[in-house]
Amino acid sequence: MSETSKVVLVTGATGGIGSAVCARLAHAGYSLILAARDIGKLQGACANLRRLGGQSFHWISVDMSSDASVASFSHELAAEGSVLDGVVLMPPQMRPTGECQPPADTWRQLFQSNFIGPLELLKSAISTMQPEPSQGRRAKIVIISAITSVQALGNYATSNVLRCAWLAQAKTLAFAMGERGIHVNTLSLGGTLTPDYVASIGQRATKVGMTFDERLAEETSNIPLRKYGSPEEVALAVEVLLSPFSDHMTGVNLLHDGGFTRTY
Ligand SMILES: NC(=O)c1ccc[n+]([C@@H]2O[C@H](COP(=O)([O-])OP(=O)(O)OC[C@H]3O[C@@H](n4cnc5c(N)ncnc54)[C@H](OP(=O)(O)O)[C@@H]3O)[C@@H](O)[C@H]2O)c1
Repeated sequence: MSETSKVVLVTGATGGIGSAVCARLAHAGYSLILAARDIGKLQGACANLRRLGGQSFHWISVDMSSDASVASFSHELAAEGSVLDGVVLMPPQMRPTGECQPPADTWRQLFQSNFIGPLELLKSAISTMQPEPSQGRRAKIVIISAITSVQALGNYATSNVLRCAWLAQAKTLAFAMGERGIHVNTLSLGGTLTPDYVASIGQRATKVGMTFDERLAEETSNIPLRKYGSPEEVALAVEVLLSPFSDHMTGVNLLHDGGFTRTY
């Protein structure tokens, strides 16, 4: 099957990384279903992709923090009868926090928006898949994670917990669904220069009286490749994980961090 006939759902499709992923996959000929909350941004993103010369794009809005919204998304996905060949699942971005004992309500909210909601959405996406490994038709799920999945970071206290939950869930799904030809891999990102992340570096620079470039050099001095990743580099890695490159890979957590993670 060529990429031109494959359909991929991308959540977080209007964000810094999601936009780059959609552009890359559109260029490769995939048909895309874009998901996020803001309808105006989804419409703009689809219009942009058409301008880039891609072919088949549409959107379904969803708020992953709401059971009702995820249920309505699932209903719409099933009703339109799309058969998905891939999913790029991006749980919403988690804000940095050093608070290691947040109140119970914070945990409930975070688990809902960053784990339970995205997992329900993923379940509905999986139910549309019709892989046939004997005919070389495989379905690929790429879950975007972060390096806190393998290494605790002091300023990402809640992320440390939720990313590990996703790693365990991805591995569990990979075991359960491998025989059907459904692959589940995670891509764990280090700092990635989305517009928001660039702005946050700028803010940190201003706070300590540095230029942007000075601060960027300081922040990346403990990364072997001496740089943060770019959204385009992430998009390339996603495309590769959706491709036949991963035909014998499932349950893998691939680090995309410039070598930052020291663990084996
Ligand atoms: N940038 C980094 O340095 C970095 C590092 C490690 C991991 N990551 C991970 O990479 C992924 C993408 O990050 P990003 O930097 O591209 O984030 P971003 O620019 O903030 O984009 C987030 C995307 O998710 C959507 N979204 C947010 N809340 C949502 C909700 N409740 N329900 C449904 N969609 C929602 C947003 O659109 P709406 O607001 O319209 O819903 C947007 O499309 C995230 O999982 C993030 O944790 C990023």
